[in-house]
Amino acid sequence: MKQQLLAKFGEIFGGTEGAKVYFAPGRVNLIGEHTDYNGGHVFPSALTIGTYGVARKREDKVLRFYSLNFEQLGVIESTVEGLKPEKEADWTNYPKGVMWAFGLRGMEVTNGMDLLLFGNIPNGSGLSSSASVEVLTGSILRDMYGFEVSNQDLALIGQYSENNFNGVNCGIMDQFAIAMGKKDNAIFLDTATLQFEYAPIVLEGAKIVISYSNKKRGLGDSKYNERRSECETALAELQKVIDIKTLGDLTEEEFEANKGAIASDIRIQRAKHAVYENQRTMKAVAALKANNITLFGELMNASHVSLRDDYEVTGIELDTLVEEAWKIDGVIGSRMTGAGFGGCTVSIVKDEAIETFKEQVGKAYLEKIGYAADFYVVEIGDGPVIL
Ligand code: GLA
Repeated sequence: MKQQLLAKFGEIFGGTEGAKVYFAPGRVNLIGEHTDYNGGHVFPSALTIGTYGVARKREDKVLRFYSLNFEQLGVIESTVEGLKPEKEADWTNYPKGVMWAFGLRGMEVTNGMDLLLFGNIPNGSGLSSSASVEVLTGSILRDMYGFEVSNQDLALIGQYSENNFNGVNCGIMDQFAIAMGKKDNAIFLDTATLQFEYAPIVLEGAKIVISYSNKKRGLGDSKYNERRSECETALAELQKVIDIKTLGDLTEEEFEANKGAIASDIRIQRAKHAVYENQRTMKAVAALKANNITLFGELMNASHVSLRDDYEVTGIELDTLVEEAWKIDGVIGSRMTGAGFGGCTVSIVKDEAIETFKEQVGKAYLEKIGYAADFYVVEIGDGPVIL
């Protein structure tokens, strides 16, 4: 892979002298969905698939970008001076946003660069291809300029740039999972405090299977921001009757006792999901620690039901994938993962059931939706690396 990417870089940008190869993973969230902007817990893992980047510092101020995933766009040129989002430049707004955000933190990106990217996570699949590009860019800049930034900072800078440069109001989960990834572990993160612990994912005789609906989603054009503001309003209503900072502060009982303060039924549903999902995530991690994978799977299933019925972010594609998965013997748990509205589901499937899973879920999906789903048996990998 490294040699092929370097060769391609040489072909596009002329020579490979001074060029280095970097990698940042994608992520899958096992449980804890739409909790990260509600002060709750999440439980994601980095994957071994992600984004590769070949980068070389330039003497001048010119930025030249090329993506093997968007070859039709050719080389996209820009400059490090006065960085601002450009609609027509599309994906290059992610690396540019990170350069801009480094500058705001006093780490001036003074020179241009040639940057070639290749992602083996399908973009728009909800496995965080954009956060992967952000963390990748951050780790390139750190290496290129010797900036002193921790991996956690790379996550925060990535999120800041996505919020303020790209206009997507995402939480911290994706960038954190990617920057802090650890092989064979998931990250149990309290998004209110950024305290976290690694939890080994030991699945004896089972694997993580990701089903991609092939329905793309973009956070900007989804109802993501609408859900966020529904939760913010519900929180403000609850704060009139109970002293809390976030929805993540509430237990199920406290929520039930105080939900009357929320003036709309829809907002009660949204807040209920945020509260119960956070509690579910804590229970799921406890179940995993107690080696009770069956309970972990049941909590994954309950998470999907809540995202479908109360939070309403699934849609027919994700519901079909999950409901068909539930029918199969050997499926320990299955739910949508990421923002929803399209993208992927995550399932824990016993080894002997994986082929049946792909076949039966694939067939039912194609019949109902009219186009095929893709399946990936994935492994949990590390955070960003220099190759
Ligand atoms: C997207 C966002 C995350 C998180 C999830 C939902 O992936 O980027 O911050 O909110 O949706 O859990």
